[in-house]
Amino acid sequence: MCGIIGYIGDRKACEVIVKGLKRLEYRGYDSAGVVTGDGSSLDIRKGAGRIDDLAKRLRFLDMKGTRGIGHTRWATHGVPNDTNAHPHTDCTGRIVLVHNGIIENFAELREELSRKGHVFRSDTDTEAIAHLIEEELKSSDDFEGAMRRALKKLKGSFALAIVYADEPDRLYFVRNESPLVLGIGNGEMFAASDVPAFLEYTNKVVFLDDGEYAVVTKDSWVVKRLDTGEPVEKEVHEISWTLDMAEKAGFPHFMLKEIYEQPRAIRDAIHGNRETIGRVAREIANYDRVIFVAMGTSYHAAIAGKYLFQKLAKKIPIVEEASEFRYEFEDLIDENTLLIAITQSGETADTLAAMKLAKRRGAKVLAIVNVVGSMATRIADLTIYTHAGPEIGVAATKTYTTQLTVLTMLAIETAAVLGTVPLERLESLRRALLSVPEFVEKVLELDGSLAELAEELKDKRDFFYIGRGIGVPTALEGALKLKEISYIHAEGLSAGELKHGPLALLEDGVPVVAIAPDGRLFDKMVSNIEESKARGAMIIGLSNRGELSKVADVFIQTPDVDELLSPIVYVVPLQLLAYHLSVLRGNDPDKPRNLAKSVTVE
Ligand code: G6P
Repeated sequence: MCGIIGYIGDRKACEVIVKGLKRLEYRGYDSAGVVTGDGSSLDIRKGAGRIDDLAKRLRFLDMKGTRGIGHTRWATHGVPNDTNAHPHTDCTGRIVLVHNGIIENFAELREELSRKGHVFRSDTDTEAIAHLIEEELKSSDDFEGAMRRALKKLKGSFALAIVYADEPDRLYFVRNESPLVLGIGNGEMFAASDVPAFLEYTNKVVFLDDGEYAVVTKDSWVVKRLDTGEPVEKEVHEISWTLDMAEKAGFPHFMLKEIYEQPRAIRDAIHGNRETIGRVAREIANYDRVIFVAMGTSYHAAIAGKYLFQKLAKKIPIVEEASEFRYEFEDLIDENTLLIAITQSGETADTLAAMKLAKRRGAKVLAIVNVVGSMATRIADLTIYTHAGPEIGVAATKTYTTQLTVLTMLAIETAAVLGTVPLERLESLRRALLSVPEFVEKVLELDGSLAELAEELKDKRDFFYIGRGIGVPTALEGALKLKEISYIHAEGLSAGELKHGPLALLEDGVPVVAIAPDGRLFDKMVSNIEESKARGAMIIGLSNRGELSKVADVFIQTPDVDELLSPIVYVVPLQLLAYHLSVLRGNDPDKPRNLAKSVTVE
């Protein structure tokens, strides 16, 4: 769960690397390091802390050389400190590398290498890789061959960037179960965990697959197989995202910018999928057993998907956290199963593992993904993109509402294939979906009043979010947003569960956020709200029905949206509320403590 970048060309490598690392900080930010050099002398600087502070303290921008690699870390093995920061080296300091992933057999390797006389300086799993290559180099001078032999001994996930001091004209990049993409420039080459890191310089990219590595000089690149060393034909893709899209565009934080981008993102999700949805819906219609897997916010989208499929396609999907599914479902999956994996990054380790398991068992796998070319899209039989554009804030916002959009379209079209709902109803839902971006624009206008509400709430200790039916995923997601970025304790639950425990926690002034769109369950929600109010709770009610204002202490008027589309609209005020609370409490909403955007380890 780290970010890596490499550069070789005629520019000052440190400048490209430091800029790139800042754009990769969302992948981890507890420590960072850079190595650059010309010829065979290398300068390595690294330490614990954020890139900006380190750049000043270690004077990254004074580093000489036109080739180099860099790393921003999110600790897995070894606490975040100066020694454990990457790059790591072999005993001679001539093999220097950075790593994203986890080496599962590092303890054995370390023991064996120590026995052979290698001296380890850090507690990381990564350092073993450098020593392993050094060991292999003892039997031949061929660095590339030694690297390949060494890497074959690794178990686990790794994206690597490697500098070898004795080969000043080249860099090596390796991918196995952690993301890595090459950027092809004119007389210069880049590689990184993600495209925005080098998008300023080139939009031509080559996605490495698992078990592949690239040998890159300033004017050439070749991708080879790690097991045989044979070259692999690769396609060069052109990325249509502009750097502007990947930057803050005047907003104080990426998260706020991304919340405001939702109308555009939802429109793109609708229009970008017009062609694919019908085809995929016909596929889904063939399966009786549909299982959604996902983690975090994507898991909440999966729960919404379940409600939508139940209501429209009359299917009863199973929803599982991928981390549970991968260990509990092995013998329950076969070719009659359709697995729908939802993952914005396409790199979440548990979700990928669940997908691989399903494939092994002969199931069909559909992925709903935001990041183009990510691992999930390679495993899946079918992929639908959410078209949200790059999301940098760690807390998912626009990737969530676009996932919901795609799931709504899929449920509508599957119902159309199966004839489970009258055509007029489906037609009205299709039309209503086209208006959702405008509804989201309307709720964005509530931003000012939500900022004021946040002032009033900023010292509260606990929040409860309740909903019923299709309101449940919104309650869960509202609570998750709040805890992720404001560090206030929050629980999301179905309103019916209140009486079975949580009601005991309600006392004077505890905020209860009630999701109450007009619909079958509105009256039931009002009863639950009354129950909470009777215990002194402060009710924050969200509804398109004005009468809720009579019961709620704070009433948030939502637009008149069809209940089935309400998850996309109702979550937006909750995102804004969480955002303002985070800022008021002095947190950085883009980089919540202990969390990372893309969880590429188990
Ligand atoms: C992390 C992120 C969440 C995200 C979850 C699943 O926890 O912080 O925002 O929802 O991973 O990620 P995925 O990329 O699979 O949707």
